[in-house]
Amino acid sequence: MDESLKGQVAVITGGARGIGRGIALTLAKAGADILIADLLEDAMRETAEEVRALGRRVSTLKVDVTKAEMHRAMIGQALDQLGGLDILVNCAGVISIHPVDALSERDWDFVMDVNAKGTFLGCQAALEHMKAQRKGRIINVASIAGKEGFPNLAHYSASKFAVVGFTNALAKEVARDGITVKLIPQGRAQTPEDMGRMALFFATMDNVTGQSVNVDGGFTFH
Ligand SMILES: NC(=O)c1ccc[n+]([C@@H]2O[C@H](COP(=O)([O-])OP(=O)(O)OC[C@H]3O[C@@H](n4cnc5c(N)ncnc54)[C@H](O)[C@@H]3O)[C@@H](O)[C@H]2O)c1
Repeated sequence: MDESLKGQVAVITGGARGIGRGIALTLAKAGADILIADLLEDAMRETAEEVRALGRRVSTLKVDVTKAEMHRAMIGQALDQLGGLDILVNCAGVISIHPVDALSERDWDFVMDVNAKGTFLGCQAALEHMKAQRKGRIINVASIAGKEGFPNLAHYSASKFAVVGFTNALAKEVARDGITVKLIPQGRAQTPEDMGRMALFFATMDNVTGQSVNVDGGFTFH
């Protein structure tokens, strides 16, 4: 059994369902204790039970990733209840489909706030602790729409392009602090388990940072 993350603590936003759940379960199988941060309390509880059944400690917190104070509470809870913070996965995200001429300012702000600002705030909250311990792994989930534009998804693409640029810049900023920051853009031909395995690879690699890997069956080249 792969126990490469034994004794480590991973915080996963958007970990209640979908890809975040897949990442949570994969990291738990590899030995990590897990904090799930999400808006969906019932789904969070169900995923937490699955993590517990794998023999790992688990904690949940209702978090809105657009709020800085909730990220601080999330990191504080990981430290208090699970005793550390080794890995942060920013996976919470939202999508909506609108042509630009019908896109409301409200829809733009919502998608940018959750996807782009939520990722920034998560990284910022984790950095203080990771810098102090001179070690950390941050993994941001983007999209192939963060590598190429897609019609009717301009606002979503803008938010995910922002995540790609932010990730690359932050990786360079903190490279000498022992913190790696990596990105998983992805497209259609992926499963939550694929994404979990990519996150596990990033979580266990010391000398890889600032990179993005497309888990998309070869759809995207760059
Ligand atoms: N599914 C895909 O094919 C696909 C493709 C490209 C990118 N993505 C990205 O992968 C990530 C996960 O997508 P998914 O398909 O699993 O979606 P999903 O809707 O199944 O899961 C997203 C999770 O994020 C949570 N969330 C949303 N807003 C939140 C907020 N403000 N605060 C806290 N939690 C919040 C939701 O409650 C949900 O549990 C997203 O960032 C998405 O943009 C998904």
